[in-house]
Amino acid sequence: MMRTLVAYFSLLFLCISSSYALKYHAADISSLLVVESQGVSFSDNGKVAPFEDIMKAHGGNTVRIRVWTAGQYNTTYGLKLAKRVKAAGMTLIVDLHLSDTCSGRSGSSSNSFQLADDIVRYTMQIVQQFAAQGTPIDILQIGNEINNGILWPVGEISVNGINPVSQLLNSAVNGAKAAGFSGKTLLHLANGWDWSGLDSFFGGVFIPGALSASEIDLIGVSFYPFYDAGATLSALESSLTNLANTFKKPIVVAETDWPVSCPGVTLTEPSIPVSAAGQTTWIMDIKNILVGLPNGLGQGIFYWEPG
Ligand SMILES: *[C@@H]1O[C@H](CO)[C@@H](O)[C@H](O)[C@H]1NC(C)=O
Repeated sequence: MMRTLVAYFSLLFLCISSSYALKYHAADISSLLVVESQGVSFSDNGKVAPFEDIMKAHGGNTVRIRVWTAGQYNTTYGLKLAKRVKAAGMTLIVDLHLSDTCSGRSGSSSNSFQLADDIVRYTMQIVQQFAAQGTPIDILQIGNEINNGILWPVGEISVNGINPVSQLLNSAVNGAKAAGFSGKTLLHLANGWDWSGLDSFFGGVFIPGALSASEIDLIGVSFYPFYDAGATLSALESSLTNLANTFKKPIVVAETDWPVSCPGVTLTEPSIPVSAAGQTTWIMDIKNILVGLPNGLGQGIFYWEPG
């Protein structure tokens, strides 16, 4: 089976890389090894090539890999994929999901002190393992879409407030530092169009004695056109402008995509066609929003699973 997705994929990166350059022309390609193991290959102008090489050849420069503490996207899998990403000369983002299920915390009565120790050790090990095989992490994403917290029940914001989350994130940063991490840290929230959600999280998470603002280098947001009617481009623009002005951190759209087929679903921007051309329009529109943010704080787009 050969996928000829590359026509639109290359358009995305050509468009992103022309004129004003965002720093991160990225994609989350975590499922690549799984897809390949199912017999899929990729081609560029009829020539079969490794996906990461095609991406690179068309302007991509950064890859995000998700890492679970167990299961299909475990550390071993992430390490393997990271070798290919680095061999292609790209910037490596490791996205730690810190999932309840994966860390075995689901329903456990662990207290936050034990959990803090665990997360320090875990983050330290991850950073060491990627460095030891010659693929050091460039950007460490701590948690994935963490609007509701991390590591429930301790880090469940609606129950315990944001203080435990602030402490746990601080522990993760400390673990990375203890392993000599010198890259950037990234926090990632869902619903980038929803300023009140972003404001409430980032307005609360930086707490003296726990997580300090200086420990976080980048803010990432997801932005999808089909989960919520509020996810319009104009809402994204206003939300990210507020985010830039208030917290003054570099911003990336850390997950997004636009469909080529989406029957029965109302998209938030009905004027954009459901097609490869529509994907280009969507990405260009997001790029323009990022480029327009104050002080050059709009820095990248991570396309979701283009393979
Ligand atoms: C890690 O992931 C790989 C590939 O996804 C899988 O084959 C392997 O069994 C997993 N290992 C563990 C311990 O879960």
